[in-house]
Amino acid sequence: MDAGDLVRSIRMAGVAGGWRPARSAWRRRRTDARDLPRRGPERARVPGAAVAAEPEPGGGAVRFERSTLRVRVAVGGAVFCGWDGAQPEPSYALASGASRNGSGGGVPEPDVRAVLEPDKDGWRVVSERVTVLVSRHGAVEIRTPGGLLLRRELPPRWWDAVDREDGESARWVQRSQTPADARVFGLGGRAAGPRLPAGAYRLWNTDPGGSFGPGDDPLYITMPVQLVVADAGCHLVFHDNTRDGQITLRDGEEGAGSGHDRPGGCEVRMEGGPLRYWVIAGTPARVLSAWTALTGRPALPPRWALGHQHSRWGFGSAQEVRRVVAGYRERGLPLSVVHLDIDHLDGHRVFTVDAGRFPDLPGLAQELGEQGIRLVSIVDPAVKAEPGLAAYDSGVAADAFVKDARGRQVRGVVWPGEAVFPDFTDPAARAWWGGLYAERLAQGFAGVWHDMNEPVSFAAFGDPTLPRSARHSLEGRGGDHREAHNVYALGMARAGYQALCELRPDRRPFLFSRSGWAGLQRYGGTWSGDVATDWAGLRASLALVLGLGLCGVPYSGPDVGGFTGTPEPELYLRWFQLGAYLPFFRTHSSILGGLREPWEFGPEVLEHARAALAERTRLMPYLETLAHIARGTGAPYVRPLWWSSPADRALRECGDAFLLGDALLVAPVLEPGATGRAVRLPRGRWYDTATGQAHRGPGQVLLAAPVGRVPVLARAGSVLPVTGPDGEPELEVWAPRAGRTGSGVVFTGDPEGWGAPRMERFVSRWDGGRVVVERDGGGEVGYRVRVRGDVEGDAGTRTGDVTQRPEGGGAEGAGA
Ligand code: NOJ
Repeated sequence: MDAGDLVRSIRMAGVAGGWRPARSAWRRRRTDARDLPRRGPERARVPGAAVAAEPEPGGGAVRFERSTLRVRVAVGGAVFCGWDGAQPEPSYALASGASRNGSGGGVPEPDVRAVLEPDKDGWRVVSERVTVLVSRHGAVEIRTPGGLLLRRELPPRWWDAVDREDGESARWVQRSQTPADARVFGLGGRAAGPRLPAGAYRLWNTDPGGSFGPGDDPLYITMPVQLVVADAGCHLVFHDNTRDGQITLRDGEEGAGSGHDRPGGCEVRMEGGPLRYWVIAGTPARVLSAWTALTGRPALPPRWALGHQHSRWGFGSAQEVRRVVAGYRERGLPLSVVHLDIDHLDGHRVFTVDAGRFPDLPGLAQELGEQGIRLVSIVDPAVKAEPGLAAYDSGVAADAFVKDARGRQVRGVVWPGEAVFPDFTDPAARAWWGGLYAERLAQGFAGVWHDMNEPVSFAAFGDPTLPRSARHSLEGRGGDHREAHNVYALGMARAGYQALCELRPDRRPFLFSRSGWAGLQRYGGTWSGDVATDWAGLRASLALVLGLGLCGVPYSGPDVGGFTGTPEPELYLRWFQLGAYLPFFRTHSSILGGLREPWEFGPEVLEHARAALAERTRLMPYLETLAHIARGTGAPYVRPLWWSSPADRALRECGDAFLLGDALLVAPVLEPGATGRAVRLPRGRWYDTATGQAHRGPGQVLLAAPVGRVPVLARAGSVLPVTGPDGEPELEVWAPRAGRTGSGVVFTGDPEGWGAPRMERFVSRWDGGRVVVERDGGGEVGYRVRVRGDVEGDAGTRTGDVTQRPEGGGAEGAGA
């Protein structure tokens, strides 16, 4: 047991209590000792020298003495490399699954223009976006069309079982080099990010137990997805392998012009499974677009899921829910969603209701619905092993639960006690599970919150999950938990998403999941999980959202206020202010933690939280636009500062601010006692939205951050839709620099259904000493326009507001 396991076990034993986690841990250990294939003697292997090469559509295969490498460039520019005969499929990341409206995924066609041809030291495949060079010993270089090196993969090394009978796939390791200035982001949700420091990152979805901070790794969502940013360009590399493994990053060092740079390093070490990977190169926007074309575009949340959401583990009764909702109403605070955690269930049994505490849940849902508030339900995968319980009996009848090698149910311990686990890698089990969501809809829930799906089984020691030897269908191929573990939650999301599409075909599902893997975005979003209530937890919250967005999962956010304990008022407020600019904006806490209602922290915090909520409401049309952009292109709502200036090295190190779409730069306060903060600006002109003062990037500015607000800057020229004072949408336009133009798009969509959105594009420019806004392609602007920033030109002396009539006609007047 390593130190992490020990800490986790102590925390879990505390949470679950009693002797059960100890019994469960022993049981798991016994099962694995009995059933897990033992690794016999192994022999190391490297590819050896090349012996032949054959072109194939999109590239070709190079045969080495002891392996074969297949290189294939796909339409859209993604490059596939597969060793030892590995093909792109089967793949959980690429599986198109159940998504609607063409969110797709799946293996793209080869780009037939790309062909394997001999090169001086081996072979090359030249394509529009990258050149792939394969050396005679199996090194692979990915270069830009201009010849700059993005990534060099050294020949891999395998450890094959000497006795082939043990059926184990080879362990392998692959080392690679990146430019000395390269910085790595992603790997799923990592608290240490967003820029991942040198070190080892495990690939095994894990509940840290209790709560986590920046030092805890791995967490709930691990993904072998790295976004690498360097002067030479950006690329994403995805090792499509669901097994346990480890990625070790090493920072490069620049030789200060001596020409002796030490490259950055990455080592991928996997416990088996295929050695295959995809590389996508280009600008960050292009990379995310190609990545989500490959793994599926992000599901579009219903509009209400962009509003403020409130949750607590331990509301305990319908009265308490009513009291909290009334608290929001009486104080005039907007509230869009209330989440019910496991305490509303009957003895923590999934798909039941505690009728004593929640006597009429459909009635409560309706009552809240009349106030514009949706109810969302927690759904845990573990089903209490209790004959007579509908979910258990029907699951047994459907043969849906995970079994051990001897065909017996694998049992674990979760909130309801002794429990069994659906096999979400089995299509029939997914279909059965999906049918159970009808009960949630009948109770009046509008969305689902998947939890504990790493999956967790409480353990007094060792890994708090299922035995590694537990058998899984893996879509009929058959295999064990070592292969299924990391995609367990992905399968659950797929089942839930498909069920909601079928049960309520006229509405888009709202689903978010604690655990997941590459492709989770097809079905929904995620959240931070149990982030510790301290300033480090606040920082980690932002790291997670940024990192996940770069892995293709754009909809996420933290437990505002932190999961544990009671935040001091200042910490709560700063968390609330950050949350107000993140896609998933939810206050939540543990049953052992304090309250998170904004009025629980004194009148000053309440007034500042009110302002944050008002700003959230004002930005709703912009957030909806960003949701559509994410859906259409994979670009996350929340982007690192280097998103449009990846060559700016200082920005790559900057994890304390972010871009919200193209237009806004948000600089949250992540430290106690701050009344101002330094903000690093990307290139261009940026207006402080509080004062209208213009600043020029690149560079760093010091901005006021009094307790009531966090610095937000707007990019000159941007046009964004906001809610006007009368509740109608209007265009906010930030004056472009003199002689320059700007632009922005507006998406207005079906709030909950599948109707196609309307997209409008607007251009801002100077015309005879004033800023005008025009609809791209002509026609009336159709919105009231508010021009802000340097309304009198580029002098930088006078700032203010000018309101224009909806026709986009003349200015109505200038504010100060
Ligand atoms: C763990 C989740 O991360 C947390 O949000 C939830 O409140 C508890 N489980 C109880 O369901």
